[in-house]
Amino acid sequence: MSKRRTVSLTVNGKAYEKEVDVRLTLADFLRHELRLTGTHLGCEHGVCGACTILLDGYSARSCLTLAVQCEGREITTIEGIAPDENTLHPLQEAFRDNHGLQCGFCTPGILTTLLEFLRDNPSPTEEEVRVAISGNLCRCTGYQGIVKAALDAAKRMAPTAD
Ligand code: FES
Ligand code: FES
Repeated sequence: MSKRRTVSLTVNGKAYEKEVDVRLTLADFLRHELRLTGTHLGCEHGVCGACTILLDGYSARSCLTLAVQCEGREITTIEGIAPDENTLHPLQEAFRDNHGLQCGFCTPGILTTLLEFLRDNPSPTEEEVRVAISGNLCRCTGYQGIVKAALDAAKRMAPTAD
């Protein structure tokens, strides 16, 4: 018999309290309970990175995280990274302008991974970018556009000296 628990958490700045099955993954919670389908599921066992979200600001595999483990935590999904509905995040703009995606399936996981990475390393080398996204599998692009976009995003996100 499945057990249910109430979980309270914040997703993209909005507070939620929901009763969930204790076995429900965070990925399924986001996609099915909150209808935030930008978080994608590829392998569902921690390998492909498509389901990556930010948990209290750190990248995490939502397919390997249970919703009930997120009690009191703050989650950011791809839907929450742009400043408003009419403006892209500089990282999104860089991906658009550098052809950093084709089908886009891997893109939400790569962007959330890079958000954490560029916050901690604002002016990375190409090699460092390649290592940072080595846990995110892309079957389309050959990674050239992704790496170029990440390096361009770093420049766009760099604080301007006044
Ligand atoms: S779906 Fe989570 S790592 Fe692949
Ligand atoms: S753009 Fe298609 S899997 Fe990466």
